[in-house]
Amino acid sequence: MSNPILHHVNLTTTRLKEMIDWYGAVTGMTVCHLAPVGAWLSNDSANHRLGLLAFPWVSDDKAKEAHTGLHHIALEFGSFQGLFANYARLRDIGVTPTLSLDHGLTTSMYYHDPDSNLVELQVDNFGDWGKSKHWMQTSPEFEANPIGVFFDPEPVNSTFLSGQSASDLHAAIFASRFLPDPLPVIGPPASPA
Ligand SMILES: [Fe+2]
Repeated sequence: MSNPILHHVNLTTTRLKEMIDWYGAVTGMTVCHLAPVGAWLSNDSANHRLGLLAFPWVSDDKAKEAHTGLHHIALEFGSFQGLFANYARLRDIGVTPTLSLDHGLTTSMYYHDPDSNLVELQVDNFGDWGKSKHWMQTSPEFEANPIGVFFDPEPVNSTFLSGQSASDLHAAIFASRFLPDPLPVIGPPASPA
């Protein structure tokens, strides 16, 4: 059997232009087709990786964090350097991650798009999908903590720029040496007052 591969995600939106601009700035996606009803974007050779449907009857979901459905989408950089260069580029235009986690298998930064969807930008800590998959399947660390360890990207970036290797930084992050202050809280959304 030949398995199909994941090709694209498609989101509904009430702010099409803002979403196009944001995904362009954050992920380098450009519009392959634009219509009154939506847009189709890609940052590689696929005809589209992201669809944005702007049907006029769509409305914002103010409680999406508490509802079933898509939690986040993830895009992967080929290197630690690529992820952190993108972090610095975005920071300089005022776009910063909501939270950052070393999952053991990836170093990941999570950004909220204009519709409050979470977008994970990551790098594989093993540089090899086979190795990271094996680690996920067999590691006691992942068994004990599948969420990972929070980190503050700014000091990690400056330490990386000062010459520390990506593998040493991953080890230091995973040992909780770059915890953000305050620590983000992952829990149920606050109830409305
Ligand atoms: Fe993820």
